[in-house]
Amino acid sequence: MASLGVNIDHVATIRQARRTVEPDPVWAAALAELGGADAITVHLREDRRHIQDRDLEVLRRTVQVKLNLEGSIDAEMVAIACRVRPDQVTLVPERREEVTTEGGLDLLSRRQAVATAVGRLRDAGIPVSLFIDPTPAAIDAARGLGVEAVELHTGAYADAAAADRAARLADLASAGARARAAGLVLNAGHGLTYRNVVPVARIEGMHELNIGHSIVSRAVLVGFSQAVREMKALVAG
Ligand code: PXP
Repeated sequence: MASLGVNIDHVATIRQARRTVEPDPVWAAALAELGGADAITVHLREDRRHIQDRDLEVLRRTVQVKLNLEGSIDAEMVAIACRVRPDQVTLVPERREEVTTEGGLDLLSRRQAVATAVGRLRDAGIPVSLFIDPTPAAIDAARGLGVEAVELHTGAYADAAAADRAARLADLASAGARARAAGLVLNAGHGLTYRNVVPVARIEGMHELNIGHSIVSRAVLVGFSQAVREMKALVAG
């Protein structure tokens, strides 16, 4: 079975809603490790809407498992990655207006720009994963870029109507087989939940799944009653 990368971005989203200090994603990372996370994943977005530069720097000093930094191919982001030195960088497409990462990297029209970013990271000795759609063309393009890994975008599978889900899972399985045949480490993520994760985790050779929103959502709800009980005890004396 696969290993688990826990994406803690949305702990920071809650903090940034008030621009305060809680909840601290650094604490969440420690609790994720206690819970068995094999990796901690953060996306330092260009607009800094959730994870801040300070978070990344503290996490680099405190995370004991693999630290996976998601970022765009923008030169400033690549420079930050080269300075902070996460254990892996996952390059993702980024549009400021998007609610979340919408699709995989376009390795055909943006090939040179992606190759430049990959080259800088590789020169710094940082393993690179490319977040791509599960298509043969994307796998073949990734292979030519000399990266260590790909992360298959599971959004189409996660969003599929019941009648289409098996076909979207088959896309992931065949893209995964093609990636592994090309010598690439196989990762996947986006939109995975407690309900839909198991078939993806069972894809042959799946190395790591990166999961964020669903885990943070569940954490809010499973912790809610206890949080209210603690406040009630203070208020009610
Ligand atoms: N993998 C990548 C490359 C992502 O951009 C994201 C979202 O930030 C995830 C995984 C996690 O997706 P989700 O929050 O839907 O689990």
